[in-house]
Amino acid sequence: MTAGAAGTAGAAGTPGAGGARGGFETLAIHAGQDPDPVTGAVVPPIYQVSTYAQDGVGNTRGGYEYSRTSNPTRTALEECLAALEGGTRALAFASGMAAEDCLLRTICRPGDHVLIPQDAYGGTYRLFDKVLTTWQLSYQPVPVTDPQAVKHALEQRPVRVVWVETPTNPLLSIVDITALAALCANAGALLVVDNTFASPYLQNPLALGADAVVHSTTKYLGGHSDVVGGAVVVADDGLGERLAFQQNATGAVAGPFDAWLTLRGIRTLAVRMDRHSQNALRAADMLAAHPAVTEVFYPGLSAHPGHEIAAKQMRGFGGMVSFRVRGGEEAAVAVCGRTRVFILGESLGGVESLIEHPGRMTHASAAGSALEVPADLVRLSVGIESADDLLEDLRSALR
Ligand SMILES: Cc1ncc(COP(=O)(O)O)c(C=O)c1O
Repeated sequence: MTAGAAGTAGAAGTPGAGGARGGFETLAIHAGQDPDPVTGAVVPPIYQVSTYAQDGVGNTRGGYEYSRTSNPTRTALEECLAALEGGTRALAFASGMAAEDCLLRTICRPGDHVLIPQDAYGGTYRLFDKVLTTWQLSYQPVPVTDPQAVKHALEQRPVRVVWVETPTNPLLSIVDITALAALCANAGALLVVDNTFASPYLQNPLALGADAVVHSTTKYLGGHSDVVGGAVVVADDGLGERLAFQQNATGAVAGPFDAWLTLRGIRTLAVRMDRHSQNALRAADMLAAHPAVTEVFYPGLSAHPGHEIAAKQMRGFGGMVSFRVRGGEEAAVAVCGRTRVFILGESLGGVESLIEHPGRMTHASAAGSALEVPADLVRLSVGIESADDLLEDLRSALR
């Protein structure tokens, strides 16, 4: 475990949806996952089915009528996610972007205004900038790491949603969720937290006052780079119902096999996140002392401006590290091409380490905007391989 985190996360003792109780690790393995009542199978079956026999018109078995509306494998995943985030309702989607889109079209109406971060996943920015503006949703990038700036923006005009990531992608900035939740409650705005980088093991935004949590389950929750998925989790039953209506009406649901793969990944989330966090801290420490590196972004470093808040609201600091390369953009691109254990590729959160150049890859869609990332930036998703191998790989790529 990385040092210093106080640990609001973990949902320990929270009754899980479906009745499971216990600490985080217990919920990850049991919530929504009772042994199959017919065979005793200890792993929820993959219900690869589109429709269900009814015992008379409208007389369904357990409420299942059609798999866009609900599917037992997806239900298992959703109950587990709700338990891990300490919510009452979770919905599983075909991707993180589908989850974001469904959430925004549920809680916003054309004409509404949204505050977005100055540092966020490029695809989230693209959704606001290129898709939802055509739906007359206006947005404004604000420095969400500064509660005073958010307060000021909330005072200027009515705001429907404040959207944040913490830690942010790719600069690993930390947002004070409790402070923003209080400001949003005052202003009548909803606070949405993209919890992808932390995962529910390291951080539970609903417990800190957020109204909704979104995940790209493609990342740490799935954890093995073998499935694309997304989720929304909420604590308010009414909002949960509205989301379920919208999800069924628009249909970007997680398929049964994808839900099953994600659930399989979740069972080991806690041990993986501990190792990700340990390895990332070692990588960040090494990079911070390296002459070819000008700046390291990792909330576990005591010099990080968000370190104190991260230690308060997270249980550990996660597996993502970014750094700037002294030689500039071309040198950063070259480093990305020279590693042998770190695989050059987009995405993050899998057991294997990945390296990428955000400016030309994941965040290319933010070029020229307030969310543009430094050209000399390299992002690492530090995996759970032997830490010594990872460090040696980075050192030799920087040589
Ligand atoms: C922080 C964050 N949110 C959302 C997404 C979108 O998720 P997906 O790729 O599953 O659609 C990503 C993807 O990289 C991400 O990094």
